[in-house]
Amino acid sequence: MIKTIEVQKSFGSSLAVDRVSFEVKKGEVLGFLGPNGAGKSTTMRMITGFLPLSGGKIIIGGYDIEEQPLQAKRLMGYLPENAPAYTDMPVLSFLQFIAKIRGLRGSDVDAAVEKAIATCHLEKVRYQIIDTLSKGYLHRVCFAQAILHDPPVLILDEPTDGLDPNQKHEMRELIKEMGKQKAIIVSTHILEEVEAICTRVIIIDQGKLVFNGSPDELLAQSPQAGLVHLRVQGRKIEELRTKLQELPSLGNVSINEGKDGSLTATLTAKSDKKLSAAKVAKLMQEANWDFDELYTGKGRLDEVFRRITSLDSAEEVKK
Ligand SMILES: Nc1ncnc2c1ncn2[C@@H]1O[C@H](COP(=O)(O)OP(=O)(O)O)[C@@H](O)[C@H]1O
Ligand SMILES: [Mg+2]
Repeated sequence: MIKTIEVQKSFGSSLAVDRVSFEVKKGEVLGFLGPNGAGKSTTMRMITGFLPLSGGKIIIGGYDIEEQPLQAKRLMGYLPENAPAYTDMPVLSFLQFIAKIRGLRGSDVDAAVEKAIATCHLEKVRYQIIDTLSKGYLHRVCFAQAILHDPPVLILDEPTDGLDPNQKHEMRELIKEMGKQKAIIVSTHILEEVEAICTRVIIIDQGKLVFNGSPDELLAQSPQAGLVHLRVQGRKIEELRTKLQELPSLGNVSINEGKDGSLTATLTAKSDKKLSAAKVAKLMQEANWDFDELYTGKGRLDEVFRRITSLDSAEEVKK
């Protein structure tokens, strides 16, 4: 549904987006990650036809965004950064207005508006002036605007930015649900969001694509991925170490003693071997040892993110 081919954007002499290529199919929610200033919003503006390309091509459902902009834009809903809206209009009139701009007529307008109001839970504020809405409601009005014409493609620029945890949760559920039927791009710098809603991830750094894969593939790049953690009570450090060394696949083990006297061991596999919590569980069972905690580490997105994106841009995040 979405295809970008070697897309470029320069502002003056600086290259904000540098030959970015990727595809999004129906049923995919693509997480678009990157530090501030990486080029996410710029890319999304080009996809939605708000910015001309400096190079490359963007195809939406078979239509070139620059050669057939009307056909391409009809297939898309766009939630821009900072969720703008006509602030002096009541919610209902605003949505009706957008529905008409989107080409809906007669009873189709009301049907579409009512559906969007229900989907985004806007019943309580339908007659309220947009300017007087809380940030959460304002966001949902803008989201409703983006999905009014039930587009097969959704481009959402930081859709949960500024929402409280409940609102974030609700927005994520909404995106996940819609992702089954649509092709969606969600930009975010919230890493937990990626795990919560995305089927695939791309990372852009200083305008360049530096990762394209599943959230699990991304996690697997974390040094924490695959480490086995074990916590036991009432054992001595050396006793535990000796026991764990019975594992043929064990590489290194580090053991820490907690304040309560419990021991926490972190195990790595030999370079050509696999180690899992299941193997350690078997060892513990056979020796008749109790344990309080045992799991295989999944890896940490923040770690991978820092490793993949460069220090320069990490500095920009801090500013
Ligand atoms: N209209 C513009 N004119 C000049 N520079 C811009 C413009 N829009 C964005 N940029 C620059 O392009 C880079 C990418 O910005 P942006 O796409 O907004 O990043 P992100 O959304 O990933 O935070 C930044 O360095 C930004 O300053
Ligand atoms: Mg942005």
